[in-house]
Amino acid sequence: MDSYDIVFLWYPDWIGAMPMPVFTFLESYNFNWKTIIPFCTHGGSKFGSSISDIKKIRPKAYIKEGLAVRASNVGNAKDEVDVWLSKFGMLKQ
Ligand SMILES: Cc1cc2nc3c(=O)[nH]c(=O)nc-3n(C[C@H](O)[C@H](O)[C@H](O)COP(=O)(O)O)c2cc1C
Repeated sequence: MDSYDIVFLWYPDWIGAMPMPVFTFLESYNFNWKTIIPFCTHGGSKFGSSISDIKKIRPKAYIKEGLAVRASNVGNAKDEVDVWLSKFGMLKQ
């Protein structure tokens, strides 16, 4: 993890929050001054408590604007994902 400054963090919304292994992942590495970009799929709850949970676990990380996509709409989400990725200069032309 030391060699990464920007981490895209994907997780499904489970019971309105991140799955426990994602909490463990965030707790297992030093994220101080790293950028975390959250991306979640969900059935209607969007991010749930996940953004505030990430901020609580990792107060010294930079948390960027994430994207929540309804799981049933993943197949149609390319344009939305592209717009979002382009905000971070991550979209390959
Ligand atoms: C155990 C479990 C709990 C879930 N809880 C929620 C929830 O509280 N709110 C929500 O919007 N979606 C919930 N979902 C739907 C998941 O977010 C959705 O299935 C997932 O994002 C799609 O990824 P997958 O194909 O890996 O399941 C839940 C799914 C599972 C399996």
